[in-house]
Order: sequence, then structure tokens, then C-alpha cells
Amino acid sequence: MNIKNVVVIGSGTMGSGIAAQLCNANIPVTLLDLKTDISEKAKKKIFESRPPLLIDKNKIDNIKVGNIEDNFDLVKQADWIVEAVVERIDIKHNLYEKISKVRKSDSIISSNTSTIPLKVLSQKMLEKDKKDFCITHFFNPVRYMGLLEIVSEKINDTKKINFLKTFCEESLGKGVIICKDTPGFLGNRVGVYAMQVAMTEAMKMKLSIEEADAIFGRPMGIPKTGIFGLYDLIGIDLMADVLKSFIKELPTSDVFHEVAKEIPLVKNLIETGYTGRKGKGGFYRMNKQDGKKILEAINLNNGKYSISKKIDLNIEDKISLKDLVSRKDKYGEYAWSVVSKIILYATSLIPNVSKDYNNIDEAMRLGFNWTRGPFEMLEELGVKYFVEKDKQLQLNEFIKNLYDKKIDSFYGKRQIYTDLETLGKVKQLAKVEKDNSSAFTYEYKNYKIVEFNTKANTLDYDSMDALKKASDKHLIIINEGMQFSAGVNLNYVMEFAKKKDWKAIEKFIHHFQMTCKQLKYSENLVISAPSGLALGGGFEVLVQSDYVVSHTNIVTGLVETLVGLIPAGGGTKELLWRWIETKEAKEDPDFAPQKVFDIIGYGKTASSPVEAKPFKFLLEKDKSIMNRNKLLSVAENLINEKKNGYKSPKRPIFKLSGNQVRDKMFQTLENLFKENKIMEHGMEVGKKLAFVLSGGNTNINKELSEDDMYALELEAFIQLIQMEKTQARIKHTLSTGKPLIN
Ligand code: NAI
Repeated sequence: MNIKNVVVIGSGTMGSGIAAQLCNANIPVTLLDLKTDISEKAKKKIFESRPPLLIDKNKIDNIKVGNIEDNFDLVKQADWIVEAVVERIDIKHNLYEKISKVRKSDSIISSNTSTIPLKVLSQKMLEKDKKDFCITHFFNPVRYMGLLEIVSEKINDTKKINFLKTFCEESLGKGVIICKDTPGFLGNRVGVYAMQVAMTEAMKMKLSIEEADAIFGRPMGIPKTGIFGLYDLIGIDLMADVLKSFIKELPTSDVFHEVAKEIPLVKNLIETGYTGRKGKGGFYRMNKQDGKKILEAINLNNGKYSISKKIDLNIEDKISLKDLVSRKDKYGEYAWSVVSKIILYATSLIPNVSKDYNNIDEAMRLGFNWTRGPFEMLEELGVKYFVEKDKQLQLNEFIKNLYDKKIDSFYGKRQIYTDLETLGKVKQLAKVEKDNSSAFTYEYKNYKIVEFNTKANTLDYDSMDALKKASDKHLIIINEGMQFSAGVNLNYVMEFAKKKDWKAIEKFIHHFQMTCKQLKYSENLVISAPSGLALGGGFEVLVQSDYVVSHTNIVTGLVETLVGLIPAGGGTKELLWRWIETKEAKEDPDFAPQKVFDIIGYGKTASSPVEAKPFKFLLEKDKSIMNRNKLLSVAENLINEKKNGYKSPKRPIFKLSGNQVRDKMFQTLENLFKENKIMEHGMEVGKKLAFVLSGGNTNINKELSEDDMYALELEAFIQLIQMEKTQARIKHTLSTGKPLIN
């Protein structure tokens, strides 16, 4: 068996997402819909999508389009036929009948349904088709969500299912969990239940939506959209349909029913077009006042909107789950109420829905981006604590059994759904140092691992300490959280800026530089294995490593100018050196500085390794990997391949033309200013960047060392951070999560 040709039927949100991911894997795919017009438009949407569904836009023609009347014959050649049409059983049954007539006998058919049981889908199929039919439940957006649930039955050809699993793991990069045919499978069964509990408890406890989102978000290890933000993102109408199907499919004894009842406020939102972000707004909406966009939040009691309030929970950056649920205020009560219900529900699903509780946790990580699943939450709280905290809880067999046997820590292995040697598994086996508050260091085999451990993995003095210390062995810098690193911790920098403690900032940046220098020149190999954001300072760590083994979904770039700073951890110098080594730069000494001036000045970013290479954010020697779970083993193999005879890189010598190229850059800035594309502060930032990239007070015959370049970066950074305008930009970014434009 092989999958070399795929037909996806239905070119809506999911069909086009699946087709795009196949295209990313270099597999030719045809998208069929009712009319070619529809699939043609879908293809255009794939091309233009933001964040992009395609890793490499040049590959778009891997996707062909057509319609189910004229082009159905294409199904004949398909190795895999994916059905992703609307959630209507009659339409799906008709299609399967048509597919059955033409498909190859060794092909696989799958449905992307999220709510219809496999046995209902396959009801009318011939035995020979049932054998080759399963559910492949992808999550939206397909490129970015890690989870794929494959639902199969006893009748299935196990070899084929296993083949499909491996294909989806290897080629499509998914975390594939094989599930039983039970309503909502694993991810949605627990995830949607959790959302409903979070919503109904907030209403019961009279919390505002901002308060609920502030708790049922980062403090609980859940993405910051929280519950109401997530509802808006998914679509309130879509959620209503999903709930209806749970009500239909689940036995009345299932406690899901308690939280799935129709809520008048929600019904009203849907009826008035407030279906979430795709509609007029939802629980949150954007309104315009005096020409300014204002975020508003709904009042759960009366359905009226008012300006959304920022909630200060008075919580440290990292709070343990136990500290959170034992807080003696409404927030603690809400957290406990929600967490305890989710744990009770998830544990009640063992063994009928899944015999492997670990798969439920991993489904929550991969499908909902939780940092830990309900079983890990129980393990963290401790079974004894959980049971004794609230004597009213209706315990189930799973918990009773652990409690009676006095087993407090029960967890065992992680990520049992895959045979790969993942970071999650290795973390359980390795020797760990947790004394650093910003990063954990693990020691395993012949190397160390550093995993940053702050909000969005932003970097501070301690992060650098961890890296510096760990470079006494071969080192892999890798993360399980969503982001490799969103950059330097600006809150940390601003604390010093508020006190005008410029010396402290200087000390930190210098430490950052010297750490990166150490990474680059240590006698050991340093490999960055990023996924998610690797921006600003995060990118500077990556770019000064020996090799990068990156997930295909990384976002890279130096974005410091957007907050009125310049990259000063060696990023400006390193990118400049990469461009100095080009053919063009050999002919024109001003080519590289100008090129880098453009890239850093505009804060350009790349959303995949393919996009990163033209900027030289990544080089040919670096590797990119579709399956995130493989990053660690590929990095480990690279260490073993390169370690014998490894020599740290040669130290660069910079010959830059100083004033000569700086004048050209200043001219560019003048023009942008005249065209109102940048303001005065933008000019200042641009000039500082130009000063560094031109080598400062130098000329083309003078040689500058890497340390000279570091010194120029540092000086520019300190001058910029002292500017009120820069500080205002940083404050704006910290409070809104977005840069201030102009
Ligand atoms: P959609 O409404 O965006 O797209 C459905 C597409 O199917 C439309 O382009 C429609 O023209 C086409 N279609 C309808 N009848 C057809 C037929 N007879 N032949 C060919 N094309 C036909 O729907 P969406 O959201 O992409 O959902 C597709 C499937 O994926 C559904 O089964 C849904 O339950 C499931 N799903 C949806 C998720 C989501 O987040 N939207 C997540 C996971 C699963």
C-alpha cells in the first residue's frame, strides 16, 4: 500500500485544510465539491490564508480542483478518499455509494465527521467497503492542530489502519490517536464537556466572562482565549450543533446532559447573527467609538455589552493548580468547581471510552492546546487531596480504586499513542534540574536539554543562566509548550526601565550576548529544535546555535523594531554575517548591511522553514520536520552524527563601510518619513539600527570583531530603551499583545 494520490470531497474549512496539509507533504491531491467554482475558491482561500495553511506557497499546484459530477472518475485512482462534506448523513451515505462503485480495492475511505458514529456512517456500506472505511477526525486549522483521531472498528483491515496512522504521523505530522467509536471520540468528548462546565459554572457563580476567561485560561494551563473567547473563535452556532449531537448520542445518564442544555442567551446570540468572530461578534465584540476600535464583553445576566475589563487575579506568572483551586475567593471556588468536574468526567470514561487515560490527556494537549490533561491534573493535585477536599464529590470507580488503595501518584508513561522517542517521554526518564525559575535542564544520554519555562517562553537572566550552564555538554534547546520563545521578557526589562536602572538592563543584555557567544563557540554542539514562535530574543538563541532542527510550523524573525528596539543579543550581527557570506556581498560591501537593514527594519517574519530560508533565518544545513514529536530524536541523531571532530565555527571579521552605507540607509529613512510611512521615533530606531549595521565609526579597511559588533548592538539598545517613546511602545505591546503601528 502507498498513499501517492488523494481525493478530498468537500472543500469547506476542513476539506481545504486537509488538502493543504497533503500539499505540504508533497502529496498530489484533488479537491472536489458540488461545483468547480466552489473548490476553485477554496484553493484561492488556501493560498491567501492567514496564518498560512501552506508551508510553501509555490507548491499550491499540488492541489487540483474539480466537481463531483464531471471529475468523479478521479476517485478511481485515489489511494485515499477523504470525505469532508457537510455534517448530513443522507449526503454522506449517497457519496459512499458513489465512491464504492469506482474506488480501487486497495484504497482507504475516511470521513472527517466530528459527530456521526462510525457505525451510522457505514450502515449502508457493503462489507468490502466497511473493511476499508474509518473516521479521520482532523482539527481546525489542520496545519496547526496536532491531533488526528482515527476511529476504527473490529471489521477494519488492521494493516490498513496502521498504515494510515503511520502515514498521517510521518507525512502529515499529526499526533494520531486511535479511538473507539464513542460520541465525540476523545478530544471533543472531554474538551467540549470542559467548555460547557466552564461556561455554566461561570453563569451559576455570577462571574463576568472576562473573569471566567482569566481563570479558565493560562492559570489552568489552557490557552488564553479561555472559554468565552474560544466559543467566539470556534463559532457559537457550530458549538450549538455539536451539543445537539452529544445530546442525541449520549445516554441520558451521562452527566454531559447537565451542561449541554440550551442557554437562552446563547440561543439569542445565534438568532441575532452574533455567532462569534466570523459573525457580528459573540461573547466579545469589536465596537467603534470615536473612530477607535473598542473591545466589548457581554454581560451574562442581561446580554448587554460594555467595554471589556482587564482582570487582575493577583496571580504570579506561574501558579500551581493546587494553589489555584485552594484560593479562598470566588476565583478559587470557580477553578475548583470546573477542575473537579472535568477530572470526574474524564475519569468516568475509563475504561469504556478508552482504556488508556493517557490518550485523553494527550488528546487535550494536541487538540485543545492544554499544557496538561485532566489525569495529569489529578496526579498534580494528588488523589488524596482531590477526594478529601470536597466530601460531596460523587466519586467514580477509577478514583475510588486509587483512593482505597492509597495510590496518590498513578500516572506512568506519557504519549503512549506513538512509538517515537518524544520530548514528553524523555522528560520522564531524564535527570532534571528544576532550580532555575525560567528553564528546566534535563540530562539524558550524552546531552543536555534546556526547556524554557515562562509565559510564552520569554527570556530573562535566568533563562540565559540555564543555557550557559548546560553548554558544558552537547545541548538541545527544545520546548513542549506552544512557543519556542516569543523573545526577551519585556516585563522584566520594563521593571528596570521604570526605575531607570539602565545598568541592570545593560548587565542583562550583555549576559544574553555572552551566553549566545558561549553557545556558538563552546566545544559542544548546540542544537535548537524550535516549534511555534521563535521571535526576537528566541530567534537570537536559535540563530547562534550550531544547527536548527525546526518544526514546519515555526514563525521566525527579528521583530524588535516593532517595539522601538533593535536586536541586541547578537541577532543583528549574526544575520549580517550570514548575508556578508553571500556572493553578492563579495562584490558589493554595502549589499549585506542594506539587506539586513531592510529585514530587521521592517521586522519581517517567516511562517515556515521554507519562508525562512530566503531571509537566511535558516540555512541549508538546518533541518525541518513535519512531526513535532520527532524533533528531539532528529536533534539527537544530529549530535551523534556531527560530534566526532566537531569544531566550533570560525570567528567572523567584519569589514563595513561606516558612513558610506549609513548615508544610504539614512536616505531610505528620510524617504519613508516623507511618505509618512514612519514617524520621528521610527526614524530614531532606524538610525540606531543603521549605526550598528554600518559598523559605527569605521571604514571599509578596518576590521571589526564579533565583540565590537556586540558592543554596538548593546549601545544602541540602551540608548533606545531610555527613550520614552520606546517605553510607551513596549507598554502598549505588553497590554494589548500587539505592536503600536506608527
Ligand atoms: P463546510 O460547511 O465548511 O464545508 C462543507 C463543504 O461540503 C462545502 O464546500 C459544500 O459545498 C460541500 N458539499 C456539500 N455537499 C456535497 C456533496 N454532496 N459533494 C461534495 N461536496 C459537498 O464544513 P466543514 O466545517 O469543513 O466540515 C466538514 C466535515 O468536517 C463535517 O463532517 C464536520 O462535522 C467535520 N468537522 C468540522 C470541523 C470544523 O471545525 N469545522 C472540525 C472537525 C470536523
